[in-house]
Amino acid sequence: MINCNCEFVVDDVNSTNWEAHYNTCNVILTQREKNGEFPNGRPRSADGTLLCINKNLNKISGDYLYHLDLGVSTHDLRALFGDVKFVCMGGTAKRVLDCAKFIGKEIGCHLPVGTDLIDITASSLRYSMYKIGPVLTVNHGIGISTMSVVLQEVIKLLRYSGSKDPIVFRIGTSGGIGIEPGSVVVSEKGFNGLQKNTYDLDILGKTVSMPAILDKRLAQELASLSTDDDDFKTLIGNTMCANDFYNGQGRTDGPFCEYTEEDKFEFLKKLQSHGIKNIEMEVTCFSALTYKAGIKAADVCVTLLDRLKGDQVTMPKNLKHSLEIRPIIIVTRYIQKYLKKHGKLPFGKC
Ligand code: URA
Repeated sequence: MINCNCEFVVDDVNSTNWEAHYNTCNVILTQREKNGEFPNGRPRSADGTLLCINKNLNKISGDYLYHLDLGVSTHDLRALFGDVKFVCMGGTAKRVLDCAKFIGKEIGCHLPVGTDLIDITASSLRYSMYKIGPVLTVNHGIGISTMSVVLQEVIKLLRYSGSKDPIVFRIGTSGGIGIEPGSVVVSEKGFNGLQKNTYDLDILGKTVSMPAILDKRLAQELASLSTDDDDFKTLIGNTMCANDFYNGQGRTDGPFCEYTEEDKFEFLKKLQSHGIKNIEMEVTCFSALTYKAGIKAADVCVTLLDRLKGDQVTMPKNLKHSLEIRPIIIVTRYIQKYLKKHGKLPFGKC
């Protein structure tokens, strides 16, 4: 008999539609193992630490995480990152700095007097990373190619640091389909541009399809944290991942366009029929890699426009910045709830 080991963060639920387990629960991992999903063994141990399932890494002495400029033999990764419980990833360096500041304030995490947040990976000249108490924030650029590089190094970092049961959030912007601009969408599933629920990667000359699965229970818990006082709506929906901002998202305002407005609307309506509420550029890869790694993950995006009404993102930058905080607000409530349950709110010195 396998026992459920979900420690729900939001458990005051009376809806019957809630998913019974997190993806990382023993019950689910055992099922996945039986389905043959882990040819190299389970990706996490019973205590929630992540396991090295690529045996080649055991042959490397002092793995170097090139794009983070952090290494096993050059840094004490356990001391630096062993207490990380939450990772918040977002496109721009500014968003992840704002995110670290906002979360730090909301969880009452004080840096020593006279010190400030520092960009831990500044020397990489690629990505920016900040740590505030149990929260790491990292930027990933635009699209799958830049996101997958940093996400894979973050996964290795979480393994080497011994972080327990980490939760990774992607906090992004997106184009909504038929929903009010400024709404927050918590993704249930990620779909590619062919409406397939997979992340497809060409490996050694063959296309490998990986299931793009997010943690449904986590998504439900996050969405439940919206309140009647919020001046925005938060909803659960499917999300399409495009490999391009213009033609890949059916826009007609790029430098090239070989289809009509009618073709575009037909496509957007087709997406709606799959329950797709928004379009961004990372969710399939983000969900597939975190799922493979045995990490609970959620993709939480604000919509900047309604694609049924136009293609251009014309809002002033200051309004855009004020919208970008919305997914961070929802994720912060989740982190606060977790810390409160564990008697760590306010967090205090970090
Ligand atoms: N990001 C996207 O990928 N698409 C949009 O329409 C807006 C933000």
